[in-house]
Amino acid sequence: MKIKKLKPLLVKIFKKNGLSTDHALISANALINAELVGAYGHGLSRLKMYCDRLNKKVINPKPKIKIKKISQSISHIDANDCIGFVAGDIAIKTAIKNAKKTGIGMVAVKNSGHYGLSGYYAEQAVKKNLIAMVYTNAPPAVAPYGALKSLFGTNPICFGCPTGSKIPFILDTSISMINRGKIRVAARNNQKIPKGVALDKFGKPTTDAKKALAGVQLPISGFRGSGLAWMVDILSGVLTGGNHSGKVKDPFDDFSGPQNIGHLFITFKTNLFVKNFNSRVKNNIKTIKRLPKIKGIKEIMYPGQNKYKRLKMNTKKEIDISGVVKKDLEILKN
Ligand SMILES: NC(=O)c1ccc[n+]([C@@H]2O[C@H](COP(=O)([O-])OP(=O)(O)OC[C@H]3O[C@@H](n4cnc5c(N)ncnc54)[C@H](O)[C@@H]3O)[C@@H](O)[C@H]2O)c1
Repeated sequence: MKIKKLKPLLVKIFKKNGLSTDHALISANALINAELVGAYGHGLSRLKMYCDRLNKKVINPKPKIKIKKISQSISHIDANDCIGFVAGDIAIKTAIKNAKKTGIGMVAVKNSGHYGLSGYYAEQAVKKNLIAMVYTNAPPAVAPYGALKSLFGTNPICFGCPTGSKIPFILDTSISMINRGKIRVAARNNQKIPKGVALDKFGKPTTDAKKALAGVQLPISGFRGSGLAWMVDILSGVLTGGNHSGKVKDPFDDFSGPQNIGHLFITFKTNLFVKNFNSRVKNNIKTIKRLPKIKGIKEIMYPGQNKYKRLKMNTKKEIDISGVVKKDLEILKN
């Protein structure tokens, strides 16, 4: 489907489920971006879930979002259980404004929901020539190292900076072997998941997506990934006033109340310590890219390069709508 046609359709669906035009547009743009960068697990496959949560009022369609200014640099947002995209949008804009004024911006968000891709927000700050660090927690999916039960979310870690070229550096990675969205898409489409990414509920390795969802996902690098997930839970949950230690509700399965996810956005100027960040980072990337390559690798890429290429390529094409999403759209638009 052409973006020109898809965007008004998504806006219409979100408005039908109670969002204002502004909030519907912010949400539609975020979902389309996820499709364009190839993050299908965070795109249209989640539309029905957001609408179900709006209908059941566990996402507040008409939130009264409060922004408390703690200092010129620091703000605290109570998102009043709004759709996560709107909380993310307001938070990154506030963090950018704060950083432009003082050199550094720090924005904590509580009472939010699933906001999609961390990199989507980091990119907005990088476009303003800022460095960005973005954290969010998520519902239990990963067992802490040594534990038999999931507690951490796939808690992505995101760092973005300008590169002195048009493609930004955006490291945006889940701390699980693969992100949960990919497993959900595989489960809906009856596809297998790769080996070594999840265990079933009995602790046995599985490639069955449904069994993986009922079991535990494995963190990257054992205790190291578990430690990173824990760090994100502290930064985005404990610090912000959001839910933490496994209390974030699963958006697909638990409609007993809002998620109260927390996010943390840190943005800062590139010239705080050196005047020539752009040329320094350009040299840094050039040096790494010139290293001899192992067999089968044509180019050493920096994080974000692959997604940028996909975005450029996909923006020219129509968005592919899977059978499952087609059915969702048919039901939701009427
Ligand atoms: N909101 C949430 O609760 C939540 C939870 C988990 C993940 N997410 C989002 O899901 C998205 C996907 O996460 P993911 O872990 O599947 O990411 P991924 O595995 O696709 O990519 C991880 C990182 O590695 C980089 N990368 C990929 N291939 C590369 C290569 N060949 N060379 C160099 N760098 C390379 C990517 O640019 C990216 O920065 C992220 O945007 C994340 O924010 C959101």
